[in-house]
Amino acid sequence: MLRLDGVVKKFGEKRAVDGISLAVPKGQLVGVIGPSGSGKSTMLRMINRLNDPSEGRIFFDDVEVTALQGRDLRAWRARCAMIFQQFNLAGRLDVLTNVMMGRAFHAPLWRALLKLWTVEEKAMGLSALESLDIARMSGQRADTLSGG
Ligand SMILES: Nc1ncnc2c1ncn2[C@@H]1O[C@H](COP(=O)(O)OP(=O)(O)O)[C@@H](O)[C@H]1O
Ligand SMILES: [Mg+2]
Repeated sequence: MLRLDGVVKKFGEKRAVDGISLAVPKGQLVGVIGPSGSGKSTMLRMINRLNDPSEGRIFFDDVEVTALQGRDLRAWRARCAMIFQQFNLAGRLDVLTNVMMGRAFHAPLWRALLKLWTVEEKAMGLSALESLDIARMSGQRADTLSGG
């Protein structure tokens, strides 16, 4: 269960996120919609801890995400796995390899650099693509995908 409790993000005087409280049960697939500038990305960045909330707290099960530091924080960022729309995909690499790079935190560095994933890891990556109905594109270069 992911839980946001009164989360606020201020940029100067501006309240980009104005007191969000919500709970997402395990296994639920959720879409967040709203006009440009309504704070969607800022909310995601706080869940991922790329931004810290000005007020409020975020929990994942019993862990207070907003209190994590050091190695625990890096582990959370890897696990939370934010995928950016416009950038941070390696366009020259295929789709599955881009997905597998999300495992880099869990594999020894030399394995990630050489792209030596285990069969289990590849199956995990393909299954993640399948859940988004894009497994058939796993061998395509990432820069041949549409932005969304
Ligand atoms: N780093 C920042 N500094 C100042 N204002 C920001 C920053 N990031 C976002 N904002 C402002 O916060 C508001 C919400 O932005 P954002 O979360 O990107 O909205 P969305 O993703 O819904 O389009 C916007 O008004 C945006 O200009
Ligand atoms: Mg956005």
